Amino acid sequence: MTGAPLSNQRVLITGASSGIGAGMALGFAKAGAAVVVNHFDQGAAADAVVRQILDGGGHAVAAAGDVSNPADVASMFDVADQHFSGVDILIANAGIQKDGAFTDLTLQAWRAALDVDLTGAFLCAQEAVRRFRRQGLDPRRSKALGKVLFTSSVHQVIPWAGHANYAAAKGGVKMLMETMAQELAPEKIRVNAIAPGAIQTPINQAAWGTPEAEANLLKLIPYGRIGQPEDIAAAAIWLASDAADYVVGTTLFVDGGMTLYPCFAHAG
Ligand code: BGC
Repeated sequence: MTGAPLSNQRVLITGASSGIGAGMALGFAKAGAAVVVNHFDQGAAADAVVRQILDGGGHAVAAAGDVSNPADVASMFDVADQHFSGVDILIANAGIQKDGAFTDLTLQAWRAALDVDLTGAFLCAQEAVRRFRRQGLDPRRSKALGKVLFTSSVHQVIPWAGHANYAAAKGGVKMLMETMAQELAPEKIRVNAIAPGAIQTPINQAAWGTPEAEANLLKLIPYGRIGQPEDIAAAAIWLASDAADYVVGTTLFVDGGMTLYPCFAHAG
């Protein structure tokens, strides 16, 4: 696919068997990238994403693994090596919610969210940077030595009652991303994040699954619609491509205006 924004590039996307991750996998393949579709325990769903990419003439392979387990993380990057001879882009996307009122939040639920949403992002990013260095710069693929893109959330800035673990993890992702970006930019490694708002995926089905829930959710979105995985994929493709070569350490909010304090539009 010459002329495509990501031709010759290889991307590993964690949590790519469903939701935003699956949307990015399909989008990145269309943009010319070879895709490693990571999943935790959703082999059939990951295989379906891979099949869709192959049927469309793209390149993809599934790789099982727990992002919070360093050995699993190494093995998913090995899959990229074996199938595509390396990796140019990591999208640290895998995320979970384990919601609960503050005093009901168990240590287990706290750790589960932090393990996947923050420690998992850290482990994958660390492995990616090591691999970028080993591979070296290849200007036929990209101007950068490598790119790391985190899927953060509007909740890296919007406090969220009943979700202290998730919001804390996403706040952590913000500073992880910015610190990495500052530290690694001199090596031509670009680190950025996307902060999605309410995107219609299984993680937030309760927020859009009934007409009442949907109406309530739309009150928080000035642009008047729920986001789709393709909205995130389009932004991620641009951020990962050389068109964004001078974009370093930025969080791109893709949220239909959710971070604009919409409750102040007619009050305050
Ligand atoms: C959460 C969703 C939520 C959205 C907006 C996301 O990070 O995973 O459950 O709908 O933020 O609040």
